[in-house]
Amino acid sequence: MCGIVGYVGNRQATPILIDGLKRLEYRGYDSAGLAMLVDNGISVYKTEGKISNLESILPDIKSTCGIGHTRWATQGAPTTTNAHPHVSGNISVVHNGIIENYEELYEWLISKGYEFVSETDTEVLAHLVHMYYKGDLISAVIEGLKKVKGSYAAAFLCAETNKLVAARKESPLVAGVGNGENFIASDVTALLKNTSQVIYMNDLELVQVTAQGMQFFDFDGKPVEKKVEKIEWSLEAAEKSGYPHFMIKEIHEQVTSVNDTLMGRISEISGDVILQDITLTLEEIKSLERIVILACGTSYNAGLLGKYLFESLAGIHTDVDISSEFRYANPVLSKSTLVIAISQSGETADTIAALKEAKTYGCHTLAITNVVGTTLSREVENILYTRAGPEIGVAATKTFTSQLIALYLLSIYFARKRRKMDIDKSKSLIISMKLLPGLIQQILNNKEFIQKQAQRFSNAKDYFFLGRSLNFPIALEGALKLKEISYIHAEGYAAGELKHGPLALISNETPIVALATRSSTYDKMVNNIKEVKARRAQVIAIAGMDDTEIGKYVDVVIKVPITDELLYPILSSVVVQLLAYYSAQALGCTIDKPRNLAKSVTVE
Ligand code: G6P
Repeated sequence: MCGIVGYVGNRQATPILIDGLKRLEYRGYDSAGLAMLVDNGISVYKTEGKISNLESILPDIKSTCGIGHTRWATQGAPTTTNAHPHVSGNISVVHNGIIENYEELYEWLISKGYEFVSETDTEVLAHLVHMYYKGDLISAVIEGLKKVKGSYAAAFLCAETNKLVAARKESPLVAGVGNGENFIASDVTALLKNTSQVIYMNDLELVQVTAQGMQFFDFDGKPVEKKVEKIEWSLEAAEKSGYPHFMIKEIHEQVTSVNDTLMGRISEISGDVILQDITLTLEEIKSLERIVILACGTSYNAGLLGKYLFESLAGIHTDVDISSEFRYANPVLSKSTLVIAISQSGETADTIAALKEAKTYGCHTLAITNVVGTTLSREVENILYTRAGPEIGVAATKTFTSQLIALYLLSIYFARKRRKMDIDKSKSLIISMKLLPGLIQQILNNKEFIQKQAQRFSNAKDYFFLGRSLNFPIALEGALKLKEISYIHAEGYAAGELKHGPLALISNETPIVALATRSSTYDKMVNNIKEVKARRAQVIAIAGMDDTEIGKYVDVVIKVPITDELLYPILSSVVVQLLAYYSAQALGCTIDKPRNLAKSVTVE
């Protein structure tokens, strides 16, 4: 999705903006551009494709104030003309979001004599602000944006003044506080190199940025008091640190990220889960009748495991809804429903819109997210941060396992409060969870074996991932990971469902990944493996170290260390991530930036 950076200060702006844009590349984009304040006005540079293309056309620009953008095309093809910044006279703008009343504004601006050069909705913003500009940029931006329906994070530059003005509505925007310089960005990772002091902007707020300071306003032009916050993420965490790709770095980081999600939230002594951030009272938890989980993509798959955990451990009926479907599905919710929104980015437009819809029913709300200060975190009563650190690879890995850990914690917490789980079971689960980082390390120590299997099957056209009960969500996630980054067609199936259709597709050319760790459905899973073997499929089983039987029925066994039956999904997740990564590597794919995909999808 689109990215924004802006700088005003005493240093040369171009390298700062280019560096910031590169740090936003992971979000996905197809063109990039800069607008720089120079002696005789504003200079704009833009290109299709990579930021390196943009760099190759940049002259030596002397400027200490500018805005930059990476565009992920929504309205208008990914061409140089449609790339941002857009210009109208002395005004230049970059924009993330969608202008919903574009047609109406377009006609109106044409009638006022404006000419459009691009096919984008953003160009109306440049013309609107130009039309209202009478010497004060902030007033012009307020007037212009008051005409706009839709979502935006937008930054404006005016040739006559050494400042930026930026505004947000339903699209992320953060200001960075420097010394004699200040920044804006759509994502904190673009700021980390220069400052760890940030101010998160709320919807319908504006900021005026100069080298000396920043002033925040509402849309009535009234000043707004803001709090400076410290970002805990390090720059190193957002860099590759010697790994060839962010994805493999982030897979390795699960040894620490799982631990970070658990930290301070479990007590081996009392055997309990401690969730200080949860404000739901004991009475409210006891009277919960239903949980509804809202999420997209990988977070949705995490939610499916959440359903299994909340129902089996805490006895709470749980539904998992795809965010983009929920909103239009006439949901049935009540005050004794808890809505849990899961989103690693905390900015997924579908999930935020679904949550807002749910809130109108007066239900309790909770977010599981990885990024502090995001839109989602400000929409809910309760937040469980996953604390996995910045995830740059588009394919979610460490944030997924941290979401699963958060769901284990929450389900044990609810189970204990509702007296559905005794202290011995809770203690034993907590002790097993604490051991997970070491077990993940053991899987990583075996990565060459997993790499060989991925290479062996990398020419397959279709893959199937099979699992039952709590392994089913991991089958879906394994298939999603593989298709996202290697472009091999892959399907995740509940193994029992196989004979109701997909079995027709199984042959010796369809590798099957069978999630066959110990569980109450293990024997049934073995039967499903026999069914596909009878159709001559090649089967890769993921099974426990102690399983001496499974090797008789399959072609390859990838062994995972022994843990509590409930926790195998965490270990199997690491295996399917490695399988996907090495398959994509064998096929020479652009692993961290898969085609057509974006890390954070901020449009519906
Ligand atoms: C995009 C990403 C997926 C991610 C999904 C949900 O589609 O490419 O990897 O799972 O968004 O993102 P969220 O930030 O809400 O977890």
